[in-house]
Amino acid sequence: MAQDGDWQRDLLRELADGDADLAPGDASPPDARDAAPTAPATRSAPAPSAPVPVHRPARPVDVRAVPPESVPTIDPRLAIALGPPQHGDSVARRAGAGLRRLTSSAGQEVAERTGYARELQQPVTTGRVIAVTSIRGGVGKSTVTALLGRAFNHYRHDPVLTLEADAALGTLPVRMGAESARWSGADLARILTPSMQLADVTDYLVPVADGGWLLPAGRGRAGAMLDVPAYRAVTLALRRYFAVTAVDCETIPGAVARTAMDTCHARVIVAPMTAEGVDGTRQVLDWLSQLPHPALSTTVVVLSAASPDATLDARTATAHLREPGVPVVLLPYDRHLAQGGPIHTAMLGQETRTAAVRLAAEAIRRAVRVR
Ligand SMILES: Nc1ncnc2c1ncn2[C@@H]1O[C@H](COP(=O)(O)OP(=O)(O)OP(=O)(O)O)[C@@H](O)[C@H]1O
Ligand SMILES: [Mg+2]
Repeated sequence: MAQDGDWQRDLLRELADGDADLAPGDASPPDARDAAPTAPATRSAPAPSAPVPVHRPARPVDVRAVPPESVPTIDPRLAIALGPPQHGDSVARRAGAGLRRLTSSAGQEVAERTGYARELQQPVTTGRVIAVTSIRGGVGKSTVTALLGRAFNHYRHDPVLTLEADAALGTLPVRMGAESARWSGADLARILTPSMQLADVTDYLVPVADGGWLLPAGRGRAGAMLDVPAYRAVTLALRRYFAVTAVDCETIPGAVARTAMDTCHARVIVAPMTAEGVDGTRQVLDWLSQLPHPALSTTVVVLSAASPDATLDARTATAHLREPGVPVVLLPYDRHLAQGGPIHTAMLGQETRTAAVRLAAEAIRRAVRVR
């Protein structure tokens, strides 16, 4: 966290033509002062010549007195068009997997899963935040965040949160099976107080069917956007209540993504299974490896095959991404994930489930190392 310092600032200079400088304070670690809600700042990075934004105290708007309207995450007219969920694996594949379970390789698989499960269940002293981002949109960030949230929920007995820190109209609430959203991260930034108990806080969150909680970024166009001060206030406050928070970020170099990357305990970078996607992600990793502080040691890469037509050789791509010294988890193409809509763990392909568990284990292993 703290030692990650200015990596996003430098990243922007190197990767975004050097013109997207951070506002002072954006890249610094959170501290107790962050808990005080501040006025919304602009989401986009200011131009170098722009004046330094002044964060004035928020007006004392009591959002609890006038609760926001509950908004469906999908228009009900569309929701009925979703159709039944299809299984990630074909029938033939499932039959093959059943046969393999009877062979000797099954023992090794079980041992591996047991090892991951142990890691996933390890105690944490303070809440750990794992942020998911990518260098491009539409590559699977929300899907990966939802898989992480579900994996942690499955294995842990303490409260787990999935938090959407993407722009409005993100897909995390739908992927987590939320039918409607009322309270947003921006609302909670004004509501949370240190005296609140977990039960008070969860009144403002969406319970997830499989367990755990969800905090959406907004309510479509109806809600306030989650900006940097609100993100900081909310993540800092919620760490008291949730053992693990998986954050669905916008793409680098969005302002909230930069802050999330800088203040998290571990980061997951999703790379699409294309030559240019792998190449761009590798450039980010190379840059991270040159930083004086160990940002790479708390980074995990997901190589996501979001299309059945990917022709890139997965072994070569994995080796290329692994070279700087990060673990690479291959997330295979999964028919259930491709379908969109809520993710049902039972409908995921076997390899997808294994990838999700391994990813969660790799991420929490790194997240607990950070002070
Ligand atoms: N492993 C996978 N197999 C099949 N389809 C996938 C997989 N991962 C993601 N997808 C599909 O890819 C699309 C984009 O995924 P997702 O919404 O998670 O990306 P994103 O990076 O969050 O996008 P955005 O930048 O718009 O927020 C979705 O339609 C999803 O169903
Ligand atoms: Mg998304």
